[in-house]
Amino acid sequence: LDNGLARTPPMGWMSWTAFYCETDCAKHPDGCINEDLYKAMADQIVIDGYNLVGYKSVHIDDCWSEMERDVNGVLVANKTRFPSGMKKLAKYMHRLGLKFGIYEDYGTKTCAGYPGSYKHEKVDAETFAAWDVDYLKLDGCNIDEDLMPIGYPLMGKELNATGRPIMYSCSWPAYLINHPEKVDYNVIGKHCNTWRNFDDINSSWKSIVSIISYYDKNQDKHIPTHGPGKWHDPDMLVIGNKGITDAMAISQFTIWCIWSAPLIMSNDLRIISENSKVILQNQEAILINQDPLGVMGRLVKNTTDIATYVKQITPSRGNKKSFAFALLNRNEAKSYRKVEISLSAIGLTDPAGYYVHDVWAHADLGLVRPGDSIIVDLEPTASVFFRADVAGIPGHAQRRRIYPL
Ligand code: DGJ
Repeated sequence: LDNGLARTPPMGWMSWTAFYCETDCAKHPDGCINEDLYKAMADQIVIDGYNLVGYKSVHIDDCWSEMERDVNGVLVANKTRFPSGMKKLAKYMHRLGLKFGIYEDYGTKTCAGYPGSYKHEKVDAETFAAWDVDYLKLDGCNIDEDLMPIGYPLMGKELNATGRPIMYSCSWPAYLINHPEKVDYNVIGKHCNTWRNFDDINSSWKSIVSIISYYDKNQDKHIPTHGPGKWHDPDMLVIGNKGITDAMAISQFTIWCIWSAPLIMSNDLRIISENSKVILQNQEAILINQDPLGVMGRLVKNTTDIATYVKQITPSRGNKKSFAFALLNRNEAKSYRKVEISLSAIGLTDPAGYYVHDVWAHADLGLVRPGDSIIVDLEPTASVFFRADVAGIPGHAQRRRIYPL
């Protein structure tokens, strides 16, 4: 969507996958959908410096409103759980330098049964603008799928008419998963800044791998329709949650960065491990994710267990061309293994060779020629992630060559 927003993939925090629709605040005072939860996460984003590496928004998901609209047909935040109201909550975020995202659904009801926007698009867009909302996630439950090409553009038009810049995330294609013939990403990209394509993530390796394999299978449709202002969204980062090991966390982050996917965490930032925090704040990886070209990396080589991806990125100063590449071991069960590849086998064939840098070890590996064999260790569920800058700049040539990697 050409509204000047989301020129790089959005980064922030969203409640759904960590807190779902928990509304029993008596039983779960620290983990229910109320204003304190969002304030606590906003505070934590600032305290732990997530904002300094790019995480800039806090997003409400389903279950925030009253069960009915007010007498004027206007949405109302749940009065017990959001006693200060949404405008005040937005102000809280803005004071911290963060953006404020809200959730609605295009249908008659949200997935959890709260009032939906169908036939209330205008008043809802105006309400969100009046609350100083910066981002809308518009879900797609409880609506005839044939209405989607009408409803999503209509809400986009109403958001635009408010005059407030509001980033627009559409769940449109995710609800057409069984009708790929009805999905035209060129059209969706004209109307939305980002969109979900596939099933909801949960905090398991199985879920992460199922998402990765869906994107792998559909990459020829996704890659050309992805870029500044319009991003395919493989769903939230589950790093820091129970069930996700450090190796899995590194893998999810690596692949989401290779894709230039939105980096929206869903976890409990108050209790996250130090390792998870370090993974989520890897600035070299984030730089690749946020690369201004916004290229979605491509799966270039695939075996039963090991997937290899290459993504073109903006050349670093003085370099001719730069890439990021990653290898992922999808298999959870088989034991630790070494993998041998060459740069030429993944399409990096410049005879000058490449200066290769390990994004997770933060280490330069020196000059690697296209035919050199690279040997990497890949335990189950692990990934390796490198950037590769084409060599050939005089004065850099003396850089040390370490072989094998
Ligand atoms: C389905 C969406 O895909 C999820 O991310 C979440 O927003 C739920 N609906 C909320 O009901």
